[in-house]
Parts: sequence; C-alpha cells; structure tokens
Amino acid sequence: MTRLLETATVAETRARIAEWRRGGDRIGFVPTMGNLHEGHLSLVRMAQARADRVVVSVFVNPLQFGPNEDFDSYPRTLDADRAALTELGVDLLFAPDEASFYPRPREATTRITVPGLGDILCGASRPGFFTGVATVVAKLFHIVQPDLAVFGEKDYQQLLVIRRMVEDLDFPVAIIGAPVCREPNGLAMSSRNQYLSAEERARAPLLYRTLCRLGEALQAGRRDFAVLEAEGVQTLAEAGFRPDYLSIRRPDLEPPTAADRAFRLLAAAWLGERTRLIDNIPVVSS
Ligand code: PAJ
Repeated sequence: MTRLLETATVAETRARIAEWRRGGDRIGFVPTMGNLHEGHLSLVRMAQARADRVVVSVFVNPLQFGPNEDFDSYPRTLDADRAALTELGVDLLFAPDEASFYPRPREATTRITVPGLGDILCGASRPGFFTGVATVVAKLFHIVQPDLAVFGEKDYQQLLVIRRMVEDLDFPVAIIGAPVCREPNGLAMSSRNQYLSAEERARAPLLYRTLCRLGEALQAGRRDFAVLEAEGVQTLAEAGFRPDYLSIRRPDLEPPTAADRAFRLLAAAWLGERTRLIDNIPVVSS
C-alpha cells in the first residue's frame, strides 16, 4: 500500500510534489474541508483513475464562512480522515494550520471574486461565500500545481465558479465534475447532515424528492417556471423547511426559456435551527 505522506506547510508540500513532477508524474488534487464521507471518497477515486499521484487537502477555510455561520462547530475529524485516505492509497494529505495558511488578518487578505456567477443563488444567501471559496482554491492550486482537480456536483454552483475562475485566470488545471453521492433515501451526503436530529434526518430527503418532482413536470412539458418554483417552495415550507431558494436554471445557471431542453434544478433550505441543506439535479426533456 502507498504510504500516506502528510504536510502542514506550503514549502514542504511544494517540495514533495516537485519531486513527483520531476519524475514525470501527473498530479490529481481533491480539495476538501475534511470530515470525509463517501462523496469525498468518490472524488478521490476519480482523481486516482486519472492521475499518478493524488493530493487531498483538508482545511476548514475561515474565509468562506459568514460571521454567524458554523465555522466553530464545523466537524473536524482529522484522525478518521487520515485513516480513510490511507486506506484509499492517497499519496499526500495537506492539512495546513490556519495561522500559517492565512498569515494576514482576514480584512487584509488578498481575494479572488467571480462576479455574477458568484452573486446569485448561494452567493445571494451567503454574501462573500464564493469569494472565500475562489480565494482558497486559487491559493491551493498555486501550492499543489495539479494537472487536474475534482469537484463534486453536490456544490454545482461552486463547480461552475471554479471553472470560471480557472478560465478567466488561465490556471493550467483541468476541472473534473463528479456526480452527487446520495444516501439510499436520496439525501445528498454532506458533513452538515450530522447537525440534523433523527426526526429532521427522516424529513430531509424531501428536498431531493421535491426537485425530482419538478424535474418530472419539466419532462412532461411544463414551462411555467415561476409557478413550478412556487409549488416546490410550498411543498418544502409545508414540511417545515425554510427555503432560501428553489430555482429552475439552465445548466450554465442563466434563467431558462421555454425553448430550453436542458435544465439544472437547485435548492437550498434550512431544516431545524442549525442545518442549511443544498441539493441540485440535472434535467433533460425531449
Ligand atoms: P467540502 O464541503 O468538504 O467538499 C469537498 C468536495 O467534495 C467538493 O468538491 C464537494 O462538492 C464534494 N462533495 C461533498 N459532498 C458530496 C457528495 N455528496 N457527492 C459528491 N461530491 C461531494 O466544498 C468544499 O469542501 C469547500 O468549499 C472547498 C472546495 C474545499 C474550498 O474550501
């Protein structure tokens, strides 16, 4: 089995990867915030199938959390993460500490913003979120210098924001999207699902089911998008969710027209006091 190397500093990480690159290895990268579950591991396997060496980062990025969000309570399980990555045969775990990764105060840290795409949907509900994501991913790309990086479609808007950043800033990195991993009941796997009580967990799959129902309506030919969205919001609200948004979009997240055949349905909703769930599905109608 490959030995899992672990680094905490930028210099050490660069030195390890430079050695592999000199040997002609293709480097794959999977950035995460840890608390790894099957969704994360599916990304790692995808990277392993396409690269000679795979690097995984675990870093709960303070820059992408708002002042009243769950940065402090976000689950940190580095020992279990290390064990899962060892089992999978990952080559390098980069787990930086916050002070060395962001040496400057938050307000003095250079940032990357993706306007437009980063301001809608989750960007509207969580101001500054995608700037925090784009900034940390750009920084990680500069450190790891991967040939390819894998991101989950679970965070579909994030995947598009990263693709846009890579295109606009000419990062020499191929961005690969991976399908959403779900529980058998349809609930998208997420580190935040553990905030749910047993009763909330039983209700949570309604988010996915609601998106699927709207998808079927589109496939049946309905194009009254605003009415469909309102119906979906009502279904969720009646079940005790507090929807942030439920939106029918084109795959590029532009508003759809009646002539479109390919859509992306996206939703974010609070369930209980602590948990904001997000999900999305692709829909193609004939
Ligand atoms: P995190 O939420 O840990 O997710 C890391 C990666 O795993 C992301 O690309 C995410 O889309 C993917 N992922 C999470 N749950 C998934 C699921 N159920 N199925 C498929 N993929 C899934 O996303 C982040 O961290 C951060 O924003 C990060 C990109 C690391 C920047 O800090």
